[in-house]
Amino acid sequence: MFSKKKITALALLLTTLSISSLASAEEELIGSNEYRVSCASCHGIGGKGDGQMAKFLTVKPSNLTMLAKNAGNSVYPFLKVFQVIDGRTEVSGHGDRAMPVWGDRYNKEAIKKYGSFGGETATRARVLELVYYLQSIQEK
Ligand code: HEC
Repeated sequence: MFSKKKITALALLLTTLSISSLASAEEELIGSNEYRVSCASCHGIGGKGDGQMAKFLTVKPSNLTMLAKNAGNSVYPFLKVFQVIDGRTEVSGHGDRAMPVWGDRYNKEAIKKYGSFGGETATRARVLELVYYLQSIQEK
C-alpha cells in the first residue's frame, strides 16, 4: 500500500494543483472585468468583434474567440496575444495599428502609483490577466 511519505507527497501535489487552478480562475475573473471596461466597446461583450464602436472603425476589431483557431495549429498564441495587447513591441511590422497601445496606457497610470519598476510589473500583470481571460473564451 501507500507509504506515509507517498501520501504526503500526493496531498502536497493535490494542494498545489488546486491552488494553481484557483489562481487561474481568479486571473480570468480580473481579466473579464478589465475586458468589459476596456475592450468590449470595440470587440463586443462576447469577444466576437461586434462592439458598439465597431461600426465606426475602418479597421474591424478582430473576433477574439478565434485566436487559437486562426493560429493554424489550434494552439492559443499566448505570447503573441500578450504582445498585441501590450503593443509596445512591434509584432507584425506593417503600418499603423488600429488597436490602442494598452501597455502605454496602463503604464502611465501604474507608474504614478508604483514608480517605474513597480509600474512595469503592474502593467505586465494587467496585460497577463487579459491574455488568460481571452484564452478562456477561445472557440474549440
Ligand atoms: C478602439 C477599438 C478597440 C479597443 C477598445 C480594443 N481593441 Fe483590440 N483590436 C482593435 C482592432 C481594430 C483590431 C484589428 C487589428 C489592428 O489593426 O490593430 C484589434 C485587434 C486585437 C487583437 C489581435 C487579434 C488577432 O487576430 O491577432 C487582440 C488580441 C486584441 N485586439 C485585444 C484587445 C484587448 C484585450 C482590448 C482591451 C484591453 C482591446 N483589444 C481593445 C480595436 C480595439
